[in-house]
Amino acid sequence: PVAKSLFGLEDLEEKIRSSYGLKKVIVVPGDCEVSPFTKRELGRAGSKALLGVLRTDDTVAVTGGSTLSEVAEQMSAPLNLSCRETLIVPARGGLGESMEIQANTIASTMAKRLGAHYRLLHVPDLLSEEAYQSLAHEPNIAEIVQIIRRSRVIVHGIGDALEMTRRRRLDRETVEKIRAAGAVAESFGHYFNEQGEVVHSMLTMGLRLEDIVRTEIVIGIAGGKRKAKAIHAVLRFGQENILVIDEAAAEEIVREI
Ligand code: BG6
Repeated sequence: PVAKSLFGLEDLEEKIRSSYGLKKVIVVPGDCEVSPFTKRELGRAGSKALLGVLRTDDTVAVTGGSTLSEVAEQMSAPLNLSCRETLIVPARGGLGESMEIQANTIASTMAKRLGAHYRLLHVPDLLSEEAYQSLAHEPNIAEIVQIIRRSRVIVHGIGDALEMTRRRRLDRETVEKIRAAGAVAESFGHYFNEQGEVVHSMLTMGLRLEDIVRTEIVIGIAGGKRKAKAIHAVLRFGQENILVIDEAAAEEIVREI
């Protein structure tokens, strides 16, 4: 049986939208942690949200993750817009996670479905200071990083902080540091505490924090009751414009507003 919710979906959307001054909030029914159908709906709503703001000459940066992978799967070419000039790029380096959910894979799938172009960034997610410095001076890499950093639109996933440290196989010392700093959320390689402050950043190529702050349209897509805390922390960080979540996460977030 479907649990009866206290609020309608539109009430949830409006409450979150007005509390955080967002441009738009979309809540899909259900909990994507328990239902693959809900995750698909989240992907569909995410792809619609992107199409709603997309301009023909845009550069769009996308992160990795299973949610963004679903967004790419659900993407279809818009009827009223040619994407021949549109460029889709990964937000950051991403080799490390499984192929299907790497930002590079998502960027290329999305571009093909849109009839857009894509550029890839073939560098690992996590770099040593030394590797970072030498890669930053590679002309090909420097060029694509410049393009990524100028994106007008960012589409990103949100993860639970400790789950992402496991997925990224961070060393024990770093995990301890992140935990001790009170991190609850992870997005674009940054870890946030409950107040939405950045408490740890990975050394990674691509979008930087200052780019996210000045990007015109930031679209966050995530769902599941267990991610509510993480989503809430990213909302407090204050850079989202459009949020696409599921009912389970929305109900938890509204409880704390
Ligand atoms: C990562 C993104 O690949 O996916 C992160 O870089 C995000 O920003 C994470 O937190 C979320 O993954 P999923 O699979 O839960 O959608």
